[in-house]
Amino acid sequence: MSLTRHFLIRTYGCQMNVHDSEKVANLLHHDGYASASSENDADVLIINTCSIREKAEHRLYSDLGLLRAWKEERSGRVLGVAGCVAQQEGDAILRRFPFVDFAFGPHNLRLVPEMIGAAQQGQRSVRTDEAADLARFDLPERHPAFEGQTPGRAYLTVMEGCDMFCSFCVVPNTRGREISRPAEGIVAEAISLAGRGVREVTLLGQTVNAYGRHDLRRGRAEIAGTVAFAELLGRLDAIEGIERVRYTSPHPIFYDEALIAAHGKLASLCPHVHLPVQSGSDAVLERMRRRYRADDYRALVERLRAARPDLAITTDLIVGFPGETEEDFRRTLALVRDVGFVDSFSFKYSPRPHTSAAELEDVVSPAEAQARLEEIQTLQRGLTLDYHRSRVGQTVPVLVEGGSRRGAGQVSGRDPHHRVVNFSVPREPGPRPGALASLRIVEATPHSLIGELQDSTSPGRAAVKPERRRADGTGRSAAVEG
Ligand code: 5AD
Ligand code: SF4
Repeated sequence: MSLTRHFLIRTYGCQMNVHDSEKVANLLHHDGYASASSENDADVLIINTCSIREKAEHRLYSDLGLLRAWKEERSGRVLGVAGCVAQQEGDAILRRFPFVDFAFGPHNLRLVPEMIGAAQQGQRSVRTDEAADLARFDLPERHPAFEGQTPGRAYLTVMEGCDMFCSFCVVPNTRGREISRPAEGIVAEAISLAGRGVREVTLLGQTVNAYGRHDLRRGRAEIAGTVAFAELLGRLDAIEGIERVRYTSPHPIFYDEALIAAHGKLASLCPHVHLPVQSGSDAVLERMRRRYRADDYRALVERLRAARPDLAITTDLIVGFPGETEEDFRRTLALVRDVGFVDSFSFKYSPRPHTSAAELEDVVSPAEAQARLEEIQTLQRGLTLDYHRSRVGQTVPVLVEGGSRRGAGQVSGRDPHHRVVNFSVPREPGPRPGALASLRIVEATPHSLIGELQDSTSPGRAAVKPERRRADGTGRSAAVEG
């Protein structure tokens, strides 16, 4: 029997959580663990939780209900709970579920090997202290055995935490205060990723374009090693091998001239932004504490599109926020139509503990909220299909992800606008996951585009205006691999 211990991480929630799980997986590889192919094979199981809405939080409790059996099935098994629910409820989880060995929050990823070691000695632990220092960004490089989400793509943390305190949002409580990572470390990680075949990086931060703002305001950017966000994008654009840069999620109030201009200048910066708006009603936006009005958002969209006309904009929307009237909701529908979002994630408002909106009265009935959700989703489906239809006939570089949901011989990937493109491979071997393939869009469906594989002529530069150049002034030739 092999002596190697195996781990599995079950992840819920946002990209930060997905990336936190990757960081923990990488730490465990460095500690001599191997990843398990199923829970049955796992010696260590970590549930990385989300608390953004009540439903997400409930998932943990239903999972835990079933995991007692997993834990008891084999002696020596270790069970940990991570993420935002662990941060807020760690002590309660350990009290209520005696078979959970440890709980830790997003600031304490580095302690996982230690907590597993303690669990093996029979010691249970909760680590939810907030680390205000930069040490939490000092994580080991990718272990050779670590497999990222998709070959060719990687997440890259640039800042953590949130100081915005939108009235509905639990995140400032779970992920703590804003802290930006020194630019040098970000660039070094991107160079190292490029050396391992990563072509696309997605910069992560709760309010990613607020990167470095506190350092700048306090006049300590130099000491902190941070730069303006647009400058950071420029430095990443100059890295050989990094063909695509994305960032998520920005906050509308942190767009300055330089960032808007970067969308027109940097060849690597993808023509897509996910720009959460939440509501189209000024009264609701004010109660949400979003700090902009609907027209400010519209004006921002216009400026972004002036810089990059083909920019695809997606968003997040909340319906049924306390006090949202029919009129408020109509304003949201109007904004969705005016902007013409390519896609959106819409949610029914869910009151969260320790948030100020949870105190608001004038609650919208669940039936009304549901009806609004359905209406906005119907509107969005139409807009998404219109957008997809407008793309038919274009030839685009697609970063191949792997097998498509459509079945055998079908491959899928993402275009620069972040749309899923499915295509079939006429003869093996088709393009490998992680390769850039040139595809002509031949059909639009409600959820994705259908493409046809082109011969290996480079589509990369064709998708980019001729005047777009890398920050270092050189051209970029997008390789197309078969
Ligand atoms: N209820 C409903 N949706 C929420 N979101 C954040 N908090 C809540 C909540 N309490 C949504 C927002 C955010 C996305 C990640 O989740 O739209 O942008
Ligand atoms: Fe939550 Fe608002 Fe911060 Fe986004 S900006 S994480 S919605 S508090």
